[in-house]
Formats: sequence, C-alpha cells, structure tokens
Amino acid sequence: MKVGRNDPCPCGSGLKYKKCCLAKETQDNKDPGTQYAQRYKIQLKNEADILGIRKAGHLVLDTFAQIIDIIRPGIKTDDINTIVHEFTIKNGARPAPLNYRGFPKSVCVSVNEVVCHGIPGPRVLEEGDIVNVDITSVLDGYYADANQTFFVGTPGPQAVKIVGVAKECLKRGISMVQPGNTIGDIGWAIQTYAEKERCSVVRDFVGHGVGFDFHEAPQVPHFGQRGQGIRLIPGMVFTIEPMINLGNHNLKILDDNWTAVTKDKSLSAQFEQTILVTQSGYESLTPYDLS
Ligand code: MF3
Ligand code: CO
Ligand code: CO
Repeated sequence: MKVGRNDPCPCGSGLKYKKCCLAKETQDNKDPGTQYAQRYKIQLKNEADILGIRKAGHLVLDTFAQIIDIIRPGIKTDDINTIVHEFTIKNGARPAPLNYRGFPKSVCVSVNEVVCHGIPGPRVLEEGDIVNVDITSVLDGYYADANQTFFVGTPGPQAVKIVGVAKECLKRGISMVQPGNTIGDIGWAIQTYAEKERCSVVRDFVGHGVGFDFHEAPQVPHFGQRGQGIRLIPGMVFTIEPMINLGNHNLKILDDNWTAVTKDKSLSAQFEQTILVTQSGYESLTPYDLS
C-alpha cells in the first residue's frame, strides 16, 4: 500500500503525509550543507573558503601588531583608525566597517564605558583607560573579524578585573565549540562564568556567522542554556565576541546612532575571534593569544 502525499501520515499525527514524515524523510536525505542553508540560512564553508578566511584573519592579526606599539596615553582614537586603514589598503584588503550601514570609519575603537561601535575621532586616550579595537578585513572577498581590549598605561583594579573576565569568557565560549554541541552551550559557558564573577553579559549585541559577508546567520548569543539552539557542524564559521560589563547589562546608544555605552557608565570589555567548527573541535581563524 502506497501512502499518497495528501493522505493522513501513517505515524498517526493527523497531519498530511507530505507535511509530516515525508517532509522529514526528504530533509534527512539532503546533505548537511543544504539542510543548514534551508533551515537556518547558514552557509557552510569549504576548504577554499576556509583558506580565504584564514588569510583575511592573518591580516587582521598583522594589523593588530601595527597598533599595539602606538596605544599609550596621549594618542587620539583616530590615530588607530589611520593606521588600520592604511595598513589594510596597503595589503590589498578593504576595512569592512568603512561605510557599512553608514559607519564613517575603518575600525571600531571603544573606550572604557563604550561597549562597542565607538567611532574613532579626537578623543585622547588617558592613563588607566581600557580601549577595545575591533578590526574586520575583507581580503579576496573573505571577511575575518576580531577584537581585543588593551590597557592604556598602567591599569587600575577595575580595569584588570573586567578585561580579565572578558578574556576568560571568550576562552570558555571557544572551548565549547565542537560538532554535536549547540550554540546555547557557548552562551551558557560565557554567562555562567561572567555572572559567577559578578559581571554582566550584554544582550543587545551577539556573535554572528562571518566569512562571505560581515554578518551572516546564525546569531551567537553570549548567554543561554545548555543544549539549546542550533547544533554545531563542521564548516560553520562564526564569531564569539562577549561584551562583559562591570555593572548591569543595560545599554544606551549615543546621538551618533552608533556608540553603545553602558547605561550605568560602568566599564565594559570585549574579546572576539572568528572560529571554524572542525571535525574534531574548532580552529580559530584569528588566533591571537588568550592565555
Ligand atoms: N566588528 C563588529 C562586530 O564584531 C561590527 C562593527 S559594525 C561597524 O560584529 F559598522 F560598526 F563597523
Ligand atoms: Co563580530
Ligand atoms: Co568585530
């Protein structure tokens, strides 16, 4: 007896066969790349894509090496922009932030209570500040995205605390990345640690798929529950970029429509890397030292 597409499903669900077990069977027969594209709009990356993103990632790291020596009291945040912009162009790449949805500069520079999307300008860095530099390069069409928070001069105890917690959050998030784990596992690991340290996790901005475009599916929240969300499979590439506040997680956007600051003016720190899911675990495509 053949079951017709419009017949009641033999599983007894009461749905039509085509809307129930037939749909499931046809989905299960598709390769993972097709399934993830259709279900989640996630574009898996092949070997050539991974080479391209890795190369863009190494340019991002080389760009960090250019700015590390100039970060000290007295420089303007715009000085960081100048170096990032010129070094990126000199290497045959393009700074992704420039003109992205109207963003006016080539890098995000976020000082102290600025959570993210700080616009470089005349602000002068002062002794004891913390400054996040978020670099995204596009090389041969491939995007890699990473950020780090630096001390300006000698840090005070609050700066040491929030930067240390944010870095450990990225480490713990990355350590969850392996096939079979879920996106919720990543957020759970980050949130659990941050809140144990009496810090808070920003809700309004999340990690994201990356590689073919600046921001792709899926979203990667830095909070969540174990076992929840999309299951990780090899070929997924996404950022993990926890923003961690010393006070509560509420934000405010300034009148420039970009700069996000903590509502309570508490310090905020962030670290970001671009992560590939491999057969056995993960590979960072922007592998700077997190120890
Ligand atoms: N690099 C940021 C991220 O990690 C996005 C910056 S968007 C910009 O997703 F327009 F501000 F550059
Ligand atoms: Co990002
Ligand atoms: Co970024």
